Amino acid sequence: MNAEINIFPDLQKLSRHAAQLFVGQSARAVHERGRFLVALNGGSTPAILFEYLAKEYRDQVDWDKTHIFWGDERLVPENDPGNSYGQTRDLLLRHISIADTNVHRVNTELGSVEASRDYSLILKRFASPPLEWPRFDLVYLGMGEDGHTASLFPGSPIDVTEPVIPVTAQYQDRPTQRVSLTPLVFNNARMVVFMATGEKKAITLAEVLSGRYNPELYPAQRIELKDGKLIWLIDEEAASRLPHGLIRKFCEG
Ligand code: 6PG
Repeated sequence: MNAEINIFPDLQKLSRHAAQLFVGQSARAVHERGRFLVALNGGSTPAILFEYLAKEYRDQVDWDKTHIFWGDERLVPENDPGNSYGQTRDLLLRHISIADTNVHRVNTELGSVEASRDYSLILKRFASPPLEWPRFDLVYLGMGEDGHTASLFPGSPIDVTEPVIPVTAQYQDRPTQRVSLTPLVFNNARMVVFMATGEKKAITLAEVLSGRYNPELYPAQRIELKDGKLIWLIDEEAASRLPHGLIRKFCEG
């Protein structure tokens, strides 16, 4: 996998770096294109990133020119703890001055097929022709212990033709009905940042980053940018099974 791999002692330091990448990409995008298009992820890992953006880095981002999307969503009401938009709202959106019209959430009141179609139409409004979807300036992704990313799970179809798909998947005790953007969108991004932490992900991460190419089994391997920068931010525990040659260590003391 053609990626930059950075290792941090802990999630706090990793999240700070993730926030600095947000600030840098937003400034570049606004300078070059007048707006910043970013897709966020759900799960537990991005929570501290959202807190950094809500406080320490809040004034370093032009939120008027920022449009926030989600790489996937769980089809539960926004006040349900399993709703990714809801998590971001509470940790970030409530603490910054961003217009509702700049926040593009998945309509979780709909069924998965309608919600996917609806979100495809929302993406189309920000399309970068000839693409029918936006070329994101920045995408944050996570990785599950099974190698899934966004809501692209092991064994799911690889050759998708839609930018957004309905998904039914069992993972831990999380909602099963989901909507996910696909590699058609992710692989056109200017920058994709994976964040993964914890010993429980170490074996899978070693397979994803240095094992045989098997995108059916490891959907995180389906993220191969056409013309962008792919960055992995991981902690030492998650990196514990990586071959030494593969590592460039970032130690921030
Ligand atoms: C989701 C995510 C999903 C997540 C992984 C890792 O909404 O479920 O997009 O892909 O990133 O499941 O989750 P953790 O960060 O909680 O380990």
